[in-house]
Amino acid sequence: MKRCDRLVDQGRRRFLAGAGLATAGAAATTFVSSGRARAATAPAAALVKYPANRLANVKDLRVGEPFDVSYPDENAPGVLLKLGRTVPGGAGPDGDIVGFSAVCPHKGYPLVYSAGDRSFNCPGHYSRFDPEAGGQQIWGHATQNLPQYDLRVDEHGDIYAEGIDELLYGRLSNVI
Ligand code: FES
Repeated sequence: MKRCDRLVDQGRRRFLAGAGLATAGAAATTFVSSGRARAATAPAAALVKYPANRLANVKDLRVGEPFDVSYPDENAPGVLLKLGRTVPGGAGPDGDIVGFSAVCPHKGYPLVYSAGDRSFNCPGHYSRFDPEAGGQQIWGHATQNLPQYDLRVDEHGDIYAEGIDELLYGRLSNVI
């Protein structure tokens, strides 16, 4: 009976030693594979610092006439628009200057401003966006509002864009 107990005891020790090794191996595998997974799926930085770019001067703008600009780089066409009435997010002495991407967020068609109905219209699939309501989509296929610039007007009337509130069409992130 004593011999039998000894054998059981030895078996138990071997089992525990084996289990310990297996656990260490599994932990190492998990660490390596999760490290690799993390590296492979690391998301692009979501918070980026946009440049503060001078786009125009208030004297360049006429009410209801889009002024072509690009922001945050030359591959991102946009417009400044003086609306003639104070709107949410409007900059300048009258709080009526807004800036938007001029590319439809649905499939990238260039937008056209219609002074008649005071909206940006897409010739692609007819989405419409309201510049007096932060670029809110008011019709069509697009699934996001029009990206709006964060504008600042300095004491000389120079208009600067310092950020964008939505993802630009065709970009995987707003990393510049
Ligand atoms: Fe503008 Fe489709 S590209 S609605």
